Amino acid sequence: KKVVLAYSGGLDTSIILKWLQTEYGCEVVSFTADLGQGEELEPARAKAELMGVKEIYVEDLREEFVRDFVFPMFRANALYEGLYLLGTSIARPLISKRLIEIAAETGADAVAHGATGKGNDQVRFELAAYALNPDIKVIAPWREWDLTSRTKLIDFAEKNQIPIAKDKRGEAPFSVDANLLHTSSEGKVLEDPAVEAPDYVYQRTVHPEDAPNEPEFIEIGFEKGDAVAIGGEAMSPATILTRLNELGGKHGIGRLDLVEGRFVGMKSRGIYETPGGTILLEAHRGIEQITLDRGAAHLKDEIMPRYAELIYNGFWFSPEREMLQALIDKSQQHVTGTVRLKLYKGSVRTVGRWSDHSLYSEEHVTFEDDAGAYDQKDAQGFIKLNALRLRLIAMRNRRLGD
Ligand code: ARG
Ligand code: SIN
Repeated sequence: KKVVLAYSGGLDTSIILKWLQTEYGCEVVSFTADLGQGEELEPARAKAELMGVKEIYVEDLREEFVRDFVFPMFRANALYEGLYLLGTSIARPLISKRLIEIAAETGADAVAHGATGKGNDQVRFELAAYALNPDIKVIAPWREWDLTSRTKLIDFAEKNQIPIAKDKRGEAPFSVDANLLHTSSEGKVLEDPAVEAPDYVYQRTVHPEDAPNEPEFIEIGFEKGDAVAIGGEAMSPATILTRLNELGGKHGIGRLDLVEGRFVGMKSRGIYETPGGTILLEAHRGIEQITLDRGAAHLKDEIMPRYAELIYNGFWFSPEREMLQALIDKSQQHVTGTVRLKLYKGSVRTVGRWSDHSLYSEEHVTFEDDAGAYDQKDAQGFIKLNALRLRLIAMRNRRLGD
């Protein structure tokens, strides 16, 4: 029996690794990905070696993550429950995709992850895994083992010579998941949604009040709905998001305190920091304002909540997500141009946008003389026919005394 484990190198997944070896009697292949979480990966390799893992995969997936997952999602302006930019949700399908590929390469028949039985992440990991390999076995130790308390976990680690950082001995103050798109914090000190999150929860943005007193202006270039340049300089997807994170972090942009409905049923409270993503969403909407036709824009806005919910619930690799993606991608054909943004104390606002593909016609919209571009008399019949059904309703109601 051989299993590929999504291994962060942290205490919990180290315990899982050992547990799979000792309790499950599995040979473990470890997979550690750099998704831009800002942690060194080599310590994870060293720890895996120390635990006798022979096949160790350590990979930088940042470009693939942003190019093939984050950017397609941002074409839709996706927000879950109106606010959440889906930073954790969008990373899970990529991790599962690599788990399945590595299982095929190494002849493993199972994959394992460190998500609990209460959350969304287990669903996302596993739906993606089954979609990509219908015969794969999934091991979710948190749902199976009897290490149900911190004490039992620490005892197990000590018995198995798993090094425990000093600050990990007690309860962690909250649970963190980070990647290039966001940092999320949940649990423990954050569990009472009535109580404001303490300052130390925030890890990649300054407090908006402490952000620079001078605004900063930036320009983002788009091509077919994807950001391709900052300040006229062409950059790779991951480089753009990294740069926007620095700018957003410095100006305190992208903090969110949210109570959301988990797919498994309960509500949970999370603190999110999505500095670059928040800038990108505003910029993308800015360029769509001039390049998207109204009908196209409104249609994609209608399907957006559905699309966001699919990603949140773990259905990235599903026919319905792919169908919606095709619709969204088609809409982006002319979403090319540049947006100028103002970053200031926690806020990001579009202050200018221009494009060769623009549908904006000053000639038509101007309050000044339009030299015959638009005949105002045409509007009279337009309004009259649109009003006809409203007038018929009003007449009927008057007749019935409604
Ligand atoms: N609630 C968010 C989501 O479902 C974040 C989950 C964070 N995951 C974690 N392992 N701490 O997308
Ligand atoms: C977990 O339960 O592993 C994290 C939270 C979530 O997946 O929603």
